[in-house]
Amino acid sequence: MKIVAIAGSSSPHSYNKRLLEFIKKHFTDDEIEVISTRGLPMFCEDDELPDSINQINQDIADADAVIIAAAEYNHSLTSSLKSLLEWLSSAAHPFTGKPVFLIGASLHAQGGARAQIHLRDVLLSPGVQAEVFQDEEFFLGDARNAFDDDGNIKDEGTVKFLEKCYHEFIDFAKLVDQVKGGQADA
Ligand SMILES: Cc1cc2nc3c(=O)[nH]c(=O)nc-3n(C[C@H](O)[C@H](O)[C@H](O)COP(=O)(O)O)c2cc1C
Repeated sequence: MKIVAIAGSSSPHSYNKRLLEFIKKHFTDDEIEVISTRGLPMFCEDDELPDSINQINQDIADADAVIIAAAEYNHSLTSSLKSLLEWLSSAAHPFTGKPVFLIGASLHAQGGARAQIHLRDVLLSPGVQAEVFQDEEFFLGDARNAFDDDGNIKDEGTVKFLEKCYHEFIDFAKLVDQVKGGQADA
């Protein structure tokens, strides 16, 4: 499967990006492209789609599925991620019918769970219309202590649970593809 993995964070040291880099390294059966919202232009309804956003639009359109790792600020998603979703629900709509898995990492115990509640609502809105995977939720709390020096998640039980969530998501994405008559790889 071809997957675009978006870290909803502008931080150059983002734990959410680190989580996605771990996923890319760990789940080698799939082709995973990791990007982040760092440095993207702020949405303006009157502007043409900027090249950087159009590239992401194309990447998502070409992908079989999307994973979003959302940083949590003030109990919600970051402005940079919300802005990207505004661009991608205005001039372009690459999320329509796209299987999306929401995950998150945060410094605190809840692992960004509250950001995901808002993010899910945004993704289900009429302008976005993503197929949000809702059977499992993955939150990485205490992110500062979660990774070793090589970027691996230290806790074995957490990795096992991530594997369960990830494989269920892949099955969901294949099902969505079948229902929509697409071409995702087995
Ligand atoms: C303005 C601000 C608000 C924050 N609010 C929350 C919050 O509501 N919940 C939470 O778990 N962490 C919160 N944090 C801490 C984030 O979990 C932490 O900055 C984390 O590293 C963000 O993810 P990232 O590393 O991928 O950027 C906040 C941080 C900042 C700077």
